[in-house]
Amino acid sequence: MSEELKMPFLDRCSALAQRIEAPVIDGLMREALSRPGILSLGAGFTDNALLPVEEVAEVIAELNQSQISREHLQYGTNQGRLGLRSAIAQWMRHYPNEEAVVSADQIVITNGSQQGLYLNVQFLCNPGDIVLVEAPSYFIFLEMLRGMGVHAVSLPQDDAGEIDYEAFAEMVAQWKARGEIQRVKLIYLVSYFANPSTRCWSFESKQMLGDFLNEAQLPWPVVEDAAYRDLSFERDYPVPSLLSVESFQGRPVLYAGTFTKPYATGIKVGYLISSTQEWITGLLRIKAHHDFGTANLNQAIIERVLESGRYAKHLERIRRVYAAKLRELQDCLVESGLKDLGWDWMPPEGGLLLWVRGPHDLDTGLDSVFCKKCLEHDVLYVPGDICFAEGNPRHFVRLSVGLLSGESLKEAVKRFTKAAQEAAIHY
Ligand SMILES: Cc1ncc(COP(=O)(O)O)c(C=O)c1O
Repeated sequence: MSEELKMPFLDRCSALAQRIEAPVIDGLMREALSRPGILSLGAGFTDNALLPVEEVAEVIAELNQSQISREHLQYGTNQGRLGLRSAIAQWMRHYPNEEAVVSADQIVITNGSQQGLYLNVQFLCNPGDIVLVEAPSYFIFLEMLRGMGVHAVSLPQDDAGEIDYEAFAEMVAQWKARGEIQRVKLIYLVSYFANPSTRCWSFESKQMLGDFLNEAQLPWPVVEDAAYRDLSFERDYPVPSLLSVESFQGRPVLYAGTFTKPYATGIKVGYLISSTQEWITGLLRIKAHHDFGTANLNQAIIERVLESGRYAKHLERIRRVYAAKLRELQDCLVESGLKDLGWDWMPPEGGLLLWVRGPHDLDTGLDSVFCKKCLEHDVLYVPGDICFAEGNPRHFVRLSVGLLSGESLKEAVKRFTKAAQEAAIHY
């Protein structure tokens, strides 16, 4: 056989194919699926009981009756249904203090916000470029950057998430001194009930970031990922998006929203908004190569759900449930004695996650004693270290109340705390 023929298949593939790794939590997920008794506090799934099954059936029946043209079962446009984009523009107007007037032509419908994030990195970045992220950040975004050969660098932030602007200015000065400043292509923020920190950005913090970038004459675009914005427990969070913050006017900003977490993950409809027309046009050109349009039926469902007021009603219901489940998770953790072992957290005000800090010497990584103990006790979590671009503090975990409730949630907490007690002997 010639040398050419003996070459391993992967060596013939793209640089991306060679670089891309198995998703970090693949191992955990496999474990979860192979052990029926295992309880997952890790999976980012929404609560099955809250999925609008009857409502979606009703909406599809309405669509089938009313749309004689059957266009919802036909290919649609690359940018997405005008009706849906108009309904999203209208939805943006309902948020408190959201003064930016968004129009349908500034919106692209995507296959979940995940596709929006991917399109955007493809549009802005080359391998070797730098994207600034929060510490911690959304781990699938970090993984995606690694796969695309793009370096994620953490913004210097304190424990409350506030940026240390002196340290930031120093980072900028170093990039300039090394001639690397052109490599920085984007800032990526998760600004409402963030995954995993559950933090929200205040108005002042947003304003200050814009001021800093303007004063330092840094033209960097910013992506604001608002995946959990609609899951606030009380009323809508009062801070507007960057689209409405004065210091960001004139700067390219891309807002990424989704109907997956707050409505139905399986319908997988998300959206991007930008007032920078070249950004929208560029993203559309790439999207045309991905799929030339998000599934039309899925869009039509969301369009009707929004227009009929069903979405707002659905949110009222699920917000209460997630608030109660997260309260229950925290109560159970306290009752089980986890805080006495040196664990702590900030109570979230929205979303379905809890970001928990373990004792400083504890290692929660996938290969740690603690992780093995959790697997022995049949309970899963997301290790915090995978949520950091660098530095990887190893004593955090991300817990989720998506999958479990009632007795199974209580049982999962019992198992988790047992593992924490047993692991405590080892540090
Ligand atoms: C912060 C964040 N952004 C984006 C996404 C992508 O969500 P989807 O593609 O379902 O809209 C997720 C999913 O977990 C997320 O946590």
